[in-house]
Amino acid sequence: MSNMPSNPAAARRCSPHGRIEAVNAVSADPRESNLVRAARGQSTTHTPVWFMRQAGRSLPEYKKVREGIPMLQSCRMPELVTEITLQPVRRHKVDAAIFFSDIVVPLAAAGIDLDIVPGVGPVIANPVRTAADVEALPELTPDQIDDIATSVKMLVGELGGTPLIGFAGAPFTLASYLVEGGPSRNHEHTKAMMYGDPGLWNALCAKLARISQTFLQVQVEAGASAIQLFDSWVGALSLADYQRFVAPHSAAVLGAMGELDVPRIHFGVGTGELLPAMGAAGADVVGVDFRIPLDEAARRVGPEYALQGNLDPALLFAPWPAIEQKVIEILAAGKTAKGHIFNLGHGVPPTTDAEVLTRVVELVHEHSAR
Ligand code: CP3
Repeated sequence: MSNMPSNPAAARRCSPHGRIEAVNAVSADPRESNLVRAARGQSTTHTPVWFMRQAGRSLPEYKKVREGIPMLQSCRMPELVTEITLQPVRRHKVDAAIFFSDIVVPLAAAGIDLDIVPGVGPVIANPVRTAADVEALPELTPDQIDDIATSVKMLVGELGGTPLIGFAGAPFTLASYLVEGGPSRNHEHTKAMMYGDPGLWNALCAKLARISQTFLQVQVEAGASAIQLFDSWVGALSLADYQRFVAPHSAAVLGAMGELDVPRIHFGVGTGELLPAMGAAGADVVGVDFRIPLDEAARRVGPEYALQGNLDPALLFAPWPAIEQKVIEILAAGKTAKGHIFNLGHGVPPTTDAEVLTRVVELVHEHSAR
């Protein structure tokens, strides 16, 4: 599964990307953008909005440029990564770009044999279950992801005042893929390792934390203005287990990012009970799914944290008046937090009508303009 491609045909297919003309930028400096300011709890000209998985299968222009190129390979092609990352910014006029990549890209770059199977997700050739497996896991060095730095630099040049959000998977979510061998509903093998051999679990997560940290650091040093740590599946844990087995490892990654002085967004699904602990792990912004309202989330995390969220992605398929009412409710609830970044409660579903997303952006901007 080689991922150092060169595909000139694909590079040619990318349109010359005109610079994103200060789309919603209040300043030419992305560090003064509404997204970064909201993350820091500072005043904004409107509530910033972006969508998890905005770059991807909901866009016809994405399907066109990706045609015939495997997912992991596409993530290592700077021209293509730049084009795909810019597509939703041009189309929807969102307030941030999210780097087009995947949480398993740094694992593959380090040399772990895996693939992203369409319609399934990441699949690991040799699941990690024993001390020997953990011992054999490689480290990631920055020179293995030179192309990621190249992509970020190209993007930052195109984006002007619109910030680029870098991201990585958090140790727990990465560990779940590695231990289970692929996507899992109940994370049985993962929890078996956690409880059966805490020393081994900690050794695995410490290695994954270093990989995530390197992946994020390369993105920030190349010019990303904020980062998001995706702990998508951590809602499968109780608060006690989260604090004992996971929080220290996520805190290691977030702590290292704090030293780079970029705002840190920390997100998971089904994390109502974990929100305060996810903030305390070293976030500036806590991502909230659609299961609790933002005013309740603000009450739970306290006044130190901005919030991100939280329109139910399934609602994108509802009639417009229902979407409109919900967006307005979310904006009102978001005002109770230190800062608010509008987003979905999870990723954009592949069959979403892209025009609905554009309308949501317009509504958020108009309704929150100050
Ligand atoms: O727009 C963006 O958000 C940027 C790109 C992005 C992708 N993956 C592209 C992608 C981001 C931020 C991710 C993160 C990611 N990857 C997460 C965390 C976010 C979340 O959804 O909770 C997770 C859990 C993964 C693992 C993963 N990769 C899954 C579950 C899947 C879906 C499998 C499928 O095909 O249904 C992927 C594949 C993937 N990652 C695609 C994209 C655009 C689809 C592959 C394709 O287009 O061929």
